[in-house]
Amino acid sequence: MGFEEKKRHQATDIVRGAIDGDPVTGAISVPIYQSATFRHPSLGETTGWDYTRQSNPTRTALEAHLALLEKGARGFAFSSGMAAMSAVLDLMRTGDHVILSEDLYGGTWRLFDELARARGIFFDFVDTTDNGAAEAAFRKETRLLIVETPSNPMMRVSDLRALARIARAKGAILVVDNTFMTPFLQRPLELGAHIVLHSGTKYLAGHNDTLCGFLVCSDEALGERIALIQKTTGAVLSPFESWLAIRGIKTLALRMERQQRNAGELAERLSAHPAVAAVHYVGLPSHPGYGLCRKQASGFGAMISFGLRDPGRVPGVLAGVRLILFAESLGGVESLITYPMTQTHAAMPAEYRKRLGVDEGLLRLSVGIEDVRDLWDDLRGALEA
Ligand SMILES: Cc1ncc(COP(=O)(O)O)c(C=O)c1O
Repeated sequence: MGFEEKKRHQATDIVRGAIDGDPVTGAISVPIYQSATFRHPSLGETTGWDYTRQSNPTRTALEAHLALLEKGARGFAFSSGMAAMSAVLDLMRTGDHVILSEDLYGGTWRLFDELARARGIFFDFVDTTDNGAAEAAFRKETRLLIVETPSNPMMRVSDLRALARIARAKGAILVVDNTFMTPFLQRPLELGAHIVLHSGTKYLAGHNDTLCGFLVCSDEALGERIALIQKTTGAVLSPFESWLAIRGIKTLALRMERQQRNAGELAERLSAHPAVAAVHYVGLPSHPGYGLCRKQASGFGAMISFGLRDPGRVPGVLAGVRLILFAESLGGVESLITYPMTQTHAAMPAEYRKRLGVDEGLLRLSVGIEDVRDLWDDLRGALEA
């Protein structure tokens, strides 16, 4: 059996996967096809490429790569994670009902609260870590179940196999936002989900320099529906940014391994610090989702949130960090600290945030690839200033 036919490991596919450079010139890097349109050889003939909103060779290489990494039938690259989530919403019709994890990215919350509601699409936010609660939320109009796991920002873990069984029994589509884990650590389609979503802005592109979003679906029929939405609404990823995403993804496994190791160490150190009331990191054996995460993923990722004993010290910590940057994103090589209450989750009503635990003392840390000793020095200095 040749190497081509053997099943390759995910870390190899992440670098090579469906990205084969340019067959014409032998270029290792996929060329940037910076063209809006493509010439037809003659009437009724096409080179296979017609107009970039529909498809573009650079974007297609990236989409095929994502499909391969997530083990799906087709991949789609959008101009942002929210554009990808909007395409999911476009699968719905007036009168349809959607169930979403209650603890999830504030922008997804706003998309439903502002736009879905205005279109007459019904929705409920539910604790999807509770399979019974998720099942009980289904109505006969329910078409979608949208789950984030681990969730943003409380790092709650939902049981993807169980939720896939429930969604399938009810004839609904299970969408998993896999932004925090990436296909290096967790592959929801293999666990029974129908669609995986990414804010590719985060770990996939990986360098805090590119906004992008992805959908990967499990079957061709769903792929046809998403392709129609993508080419019709047009929020596609540009050729240049597709290339940046391809370049970023090639180092995903290396980055993730380092980021995860750093996160594990910082989570332990934070847990032992007297200024810290609670640490939410899935990789701590004391985390309620630790065991489940081990069953459905091959790692814990590099996102931590933690609560300060004295919320009055939040401004001091945010002003005190030097190496760790106070900014609103995650997943890149630089470590970032975020204040969910006024940043990522500002769109949520206060009482809703409070119920989830997104309170005045909560900070979220996206751990980067820096030397962990420098990260801890910086964080400890800010906590003790
Ligand atoms: C889990 C999650 N999903 C989706 C999004 C939206 O992605 P984007 O900012 O690329 O539009 C984000 C952004 O922070 C996110 O954290």
